[in-house]
Amino acid sequence: MTKNNNAKNENSLLYLNGINKSFPGVQALSNAKLSLSAGSVTALIGENGAGKSTIVKILTGIYQPDSGEIFFNGSSVKFYSAVDALKIGITAIHQETVLFDELTVAENIFLGNAPINKFGMIDLGKQSKKALEILQSINADIEPNMLLRDLGIASRHLVAIARALSVDTKVVIMDEPTAALSFKEIQEIFTLIKQLKKQGKAILFISHKFDEIFHIADHFTVFRDGEFIADGNMADASQDKLVSLMVGRSVDQIFPKRKPKLGRKIFSVSEFSHPTEFADINFTLREGEILGFYGLVGAGRSELMQAIFGITRAHTGQLTIEGDPVYVTAPSKAVKEGIVYVPEDRGTQGTIKPIPIYQNITLPSLAAVSKAGFLQEVEEFQLSREYTQKLDLRAASLDTKVENLSGGNQQKIVIAKWLATKPRIIILDEPTKGVDIGSKAAVHEFMGNLAANGLAVIMVSSEIPEILGMSDRIIVMRDGKIVSEHKKNSVTPEILIKHAAGLMEP
Ligand SMILES: Nc1ncnc2c1ncn2[C@@H]1O[C@H](COP(=O)(O)OP(=O)(O)OP(=O)(O)O)[C@@H](O)[C@H]1O
Ligand SMILES: [Mg+2]
Repeated sequence: MTKNNNAKNENSLLYLNGINKSFPGVQALSNAKLSLSAGSVTALIGENGAGKSTIVKILTGIYQPDSGEIFFNGSSVKFYSAVDALKIGITAIHQETVLFDELTVAENIFLGNAPINKFGMIDLGKQSKKALEILQSINADIEPNMLLRDLGIASRHLVAIARALSVDTKVVIMDEPTAALSFKEIQEIFTLIKQLKKQGKAILFISHKFDEIFHIADHFTVFRDGEFIADGNMADASQDKLVSLMVGRSVDQIFPKRKPKLGRKIFSVSEFSHPTEFADINFTLREGEILGFYGLVGAGRSELMQAIFGITRAHTGQLTIEGDPVYVTAPSKAVKEGIVYVPEDRGTQGTIKPIPIYQNITLPSLAAVSKAGFLQEVEEFQLSREYTQKLDLRAASLDTKVENLSGGNQQKIVIAKWLATKPRIIILDEPTKGVDIGSKAAVHEFMGNLAANGLAVIMVSSEIPEILGMSDRIIVMRDGKIVSEHKKNSVTPEILIKHAAGLMEP
């Protein structure tokens, strides 16, 4: 074996070189390299589809590279399965985490690695106790014997992290660990990363959020279109420089200038209450308006939107469209009334992964693309092409199965699919979560165009710049209630945070 004499190799705990990986129609990685050092955090950045998750899967033995080498502690290693990578001490928290709904939290944490008693059976008591210890070490207030199914997105993420920490690891990989988390939980993840760093672990951190990258990373590596572009120290980097390395051009991050043309009052929600999730919700919405809903994770925003869309029904109160009462007892009814909802959890709620892009997009609009009950493929393709182009989707073709798209591109499919139904009211729940900085601008511009064309838009977002940059009016929710309402330009980030956190009386 000839060793690559790149200087990086000397200090690196883990070093990948010349990695190629292709899928039918896509070169996901070409001649990619990456180096991780003990006791430091490396941020891997790149646009949606740049190959970040693919290299994580190669590092964890889920995919085998077509060619290229992996060095661990200076010697060449090969992973034939996920177990090989785990044995060496590489663990990952994946972007789409595989956890099991019907198992308990403790069972999920120790799956395949459970403590065994002297009878050769899983030692349930010890398993719960050890699970609790790990959960407490990351400040996760989760009961180990709960069923996973009963946890929200943020808690599930913490379970995935606990799972990664249940084995003795040397390398910890986090693929967008903060995407679903609230401010407080993100701080806890950072505390955890700092602890891991002190223990001498090498950490790979993937995120689309630059504030996080600048806060936590020591080094950066940039991928573009599957290729290594640059690496260096964060101390020498600026956001502008990193963005232009990622995108290959400079990106205008200013929110689109909009002159809202508010039309008729189209939608109203009154005395809307749910036994546990929200209460006394009253608001109205006009055509051409973007109404932002801000709040901390758990404030009840998503639950409210899901009730409006007819996903949940245990509520009282009244919805009207153009003054007429509407009874939305199921999502199909909502779509018929012209209301659509793009969910936050686009992984499980959003798409049917094993079928092609174009079929996913046309699914809720079948009437528009059928003739006498027969699907028209040409129309299906046209409709899909129109919306995927608008959203800057990166895919080999519209025949590609959704499961083979990168995380961010899967999210664009969900947005496209609901827009293709030509709604009058669209509810976007965290519309740019997991979307890279270049496409983010495309989504924002697109959202502005929707409003300009008379659509009424509700945007739930936990990102203050997005809330302030896009909304004509902002409603803040806390503990299931509306606590304040603000006009555009009449509010600061501090005020929003204080209302959301209950530090300011309305
Ligand atoms: N199993 C697969 N089959 C076919 N194509 C795939 C598969 N996995 C990934 N790809 C393709 O490889 C490319 C890289 O995808 P990858 O998931 O690594 O991107 P990413 O950088 O993680 O993006 P994101 O920021 O959106 O998560 C994409 O074009 C994707 O569609
Ligand atoms: Mg990814």
